[in-house]
Amino acid sequence: MIEVDRNKCIKCGACSSDCIVKIIKRDTEDFPYVPAELDKFCINCQHCLAICPTGAITCNGVTAAQCPPIGNVPSPENMLNLLRQRRSIRRYKQENLPPEVIAKLRESLAWSATGCNDDSLLFRIIDNKEDMTFFRETATKILCRLIKSKILQILYPNAKRFLFEILNGEDVIFRNAPHMIVCAVRKNAPCKEADPWIALANFDLYAQTFGVGTCWCGFAYYLFKFSRTLRKRLDFPKNYKITSIILFGKPAVKYQRSTFFTVKDR
Ligand SMILES: Cc1cc2nc3c(=O)[nH]c(=O)nc-3n(C[C@H](O)[C@H](O)[C@H](O)COP(=O)(O)O)c2cc1C
Repeated sequence: MIEVDRNKCIKCGACSSDCIVKIIKRDTEDFPYVPAELDKFCINCQHCLAICPTGAITCNGVTAAQCPPIGNVPSPENMLNLLRQRRSIRRYKQENLPPEVIAKLRESLAWSATGCNDDSLLFRIIDNKEDMTFFRETATKILCRLIKSKILQILYPNAKRFLFEILNGEDVIFRNAPHMIVCAVRKNAPCKEADPWIALANFDLYAQTFGVGTCWCGFAYYLFKFSRTLRKRLDFPKNYKITSIILFGKPAVKYQRSTFFTVKDR
């Protein structure tokens, strides 16, 4: 529900012009309002709230006073450094991140762009390194079984290079990371292909600003697809499916320079 404080509203029309679903109309006195029958079309993007110069709008219970003020963003140079210097981290310090850092990372997920702003994403964060043991041990057991039955070699011929390491208990999937975030999307969500990846890409970049190392984990995606035991542990609702996973923690490696790549034209 959109509420307008008439004592604050200056009738500039910014809220109605910026409303993507075009539900904010003007009354006979030129004040903005949402006709009752259009209220259900609000997607709670909060653009009306964000754009109002006088803070006159309350959007679904959220007031201007609750919104963080406009602050500095990284300079183009700093942002490019962030993009260039992010590396997939595959060796981690065996320690938990401070809970307040994990809380900040979790909080950042709320601002991710989603196709229809329809709250179709769920996240599970493994915030304690002891809890990763279950995933690690179950994954190793599954992989060893697949290797011994030769199924892994058939399904994924490239795995041949890692058989020795896997059989020796090396964690080639979760990289001994102390933490991971798993994203699941509602199966009937309109933008189920894009939304999860955008959210975790934001999480990935924001993590770098705390010196937290990350690694996207496609291998884990396939294991979760394969193993009900692993999926059950995350306890997502039945109408959700796991899409993407990022491992994270304090890096045990330090890169001395960024890499050198160029964008291909074709
Ligand atoms: C969708 C996706 C899945 C990935 N899965 C894995 C994985 O399972 N294990 C792994 O070690 N790295 C994984 N990576 C990391 C890539 O190997 C890595 O991004 C690439 O080699 C480039 O290195 P950089 O990230 O350090 O720039 C994945 C990356 C993406 C984007």
